[in-house]
Amino acid sequence: MDTSGSRCVKSRILGKSGLNVSEIGLGCWQFGGDFGPIDSERALATLSAASAAGVTFFDTADVYGAGQSESFVGQHVASGIGEAVVATKVGRTDALYPDKYTYEGIRSHLLASAERIGVEQIDLIQLHCVPPAELERGAVFDILNRLQAEGVCRAWGASVETLAEAKVCLKQEGLTSLQIIFNLFRQDAAWELLPAAEAANVGVIVRLPLASGMLSGKFGKDTKFAETDHRNYNKDGAAFSVGETFSGIEFSKALELVEALQDFVPEGMSLVEFSLRWLLDFPAVSSVIAGCSRPQQVTDNVRASDLPPLSDEIHAALRAFYEGSVREHIRCPI
Ligand SMILES: NC(=O)c1ccc[n+]([C@@H]2O[C@H](COP(=O)([O-])OP(=O)(O)OC[C@H]3O[C@@H](n4cnc5c(N)ncnc54)[C@H](OP(=O)(O)O)[C@@H]3O)[C@@H](O)[C@H]2O)c1
Repeated sequence: MDTSGSRCVKSRILGKSGLNVSEIGLGCWQFGGDFGPIDSERALATLSAASAAGVTFFDTADVYGAGQSESFVGQHVASGIGEAVVATKVGRTDALYPDKYTYEGIRSHLLASAERIGVEQIDLIQLHCVPPAELERGAVFDILNRLQAEGVCRAWGASVETLAEAKVCLKQEGLTSLQIIFNLFRQDAAWELLPAAEAANVGVIVRLPLASGMLSGKFGKDTKFAETDHRNYNKDGAAFSVGETFSGIEFSKALELVEALQDFVPEGMSLVEFSLRWLLDFPAVSSVIAGCSRPQQVTDNVRASDLPPLSDEIHAALRAFYEGSVREHIRCPI
């Protein structure tokens, strides 16, 4: 394995939690099997590669492989390789979703997550795309404030589908972080949300930074995904929000847009580095949690942390490209 990118990843503070997290984090949905089958050997090797590269922030959820992802993260934490701030999520099991968010129910889910991760206190618990009506009602926030006060979690945040949901959460004083879809194919947060998040000292955690891998440039019209891979079964939103797969853009259209995007990439830079660097150029971003299904991807992704910022001209050109050619193809509310 090429480890020449080792330990180059820089850190940032995660909102008002004060936690120090690597600016490139590791998305661990892959370890639940929703990007095709994965065994413990590959999951643990990927987690080890992340720690070797200086990644200290790991994002998982109780529903990823029904606890499997949290358990792999827990095994990795127990191995003592590197530091780890672990964020997990609650709110998408049948016992809670879509409107059964009681104190007892959430507490028992958090305790089960803590056990799988192998910690006494969860570093960061995030609401997992809880329906907007529940966010508006607000009782779920009171429950998280109470669980934080009781020491079950150190901090809490919310992972949301839309900017409107993010803005509802931002009104909550106790909110530490917002996890959003943000990438070159979904740019609106840059001007619609990031300034307000920064002003409220709420850390932004970026998911789908590579639009489910599309922004690596490695897919083509003949690419086939495993039956159990959401990029196969949810590509048109059959199982959950279409926005969570390829950022909501239809596969062949996304391939076209990726080709057009290549023209903006400076010589010597890969499309992955370019896509991740663009995100890191926003100071409101605390961590970009690129999901990885194999060790080499982590090693490649952390290189973005060591690159200089993109120029203002490139940023302006990318916004114009997005507004002129991409946004109209997003098939879900932004
Ligand atoms: N609702 C929520 O809260 C929610 C929803 C979605 C995701 N998330 C979190 O956000 C994380 C990131 O989102 P995501 O995984 O969906 O999307 P992503 O990070 O945009 O894409 C991940 C995929 O990109 C490919 N990839 C990554 N690094 C690469 C590299 N260097 N070169 C080539 N390909 C590379 C891999 O594809 P292959 O596997 O095909 O190699 C990987 O599975 C997840 O792991 C999860 O922790 C949260």
